[in-house]
Amino acid sequence: MNKKAFIFDLDGVIVDTAKYHFLAWRKVADSLGIEFTPEHNEALKGVSRVRSLEIILELGKAEATQEDKDKWLKQKNDDYLAYIENMDRSEILPGVMHVLDYLRENGQPIALGSASKNARIILEKTGIIDYFDVIVDGNDVTNAKPDPEVFERASRELGISNENSIVFEDSFAGIDAANIAGMTSVGIGEAKFLGKAQYIFPDFVTIDLSFIDTLVKK
Ligand code: BG6
Ligand code: MG
Repeated sequence: MNKKAFIFDLDGVIVDTAKYHFLAWRKVADSLGIEFTPEHNEALKGVSRVRSLEIILELGKAEATQEDKDKWLKQKNDDYLAYIENMDRSEILPGVMHVLDYLRENGQPIALGSASKNARIILEKTGIIDYFDVIVDGNDVTNAKPDPEVFERASRELGISNENSIVFEDSFAGIDAANIAGMTSVGIGEAKFLGKAQYIFPDFVTIDLSFIDTLVKK
């Protein structure tokens, strides 16, 4: 049987945490007097915590000392952790379990490729950590998406080539990373943000299992 590496981003793909990242960053932006809209937030999706703060500061043409930056980074993460504290399986996005179960039943390797340093906590809280043969997160990589390091490491650890790897992503930084690595990119979300993805679906509910079969046979 063909084996492909199925690599999933976490925030905004498996769980609806993108909204919590947004709310926590908006609080930082508000304190800095910087306007921060959902449109602005698209540029933060998939990128590291440190890079996200830099983008917000650039947006407001604001300067900050390292001490200030550390304070905002801590505040953002404390707020984010408060949002996810009571998270459970109900926050897994619709249709995701259907696909994960299908991949597992068919013996397909599954990896997580996330920029988040909180990824493992979320996989544990939602009870799905055992689905992942390999987990690569923000603690394991030095280069943030769109650098393909996170996905390349995941496929390498699974022992599968880049061209036989499939990435599910909700951010354009992540789609860029998958494309740069020569992997199949599947965008989850709106076409206006994910236009560079090879395939785009609004959510996992609209992914038919026959599409997964097609990817396996590709
Ligand atoms: C990504 C999110 O998955 O992780 C980003 O899309 C976030 O919004 C990044 O900034 C880093 O997450 P964390 O949990 O380490 O701050
Ligand atoms: Mg994401």
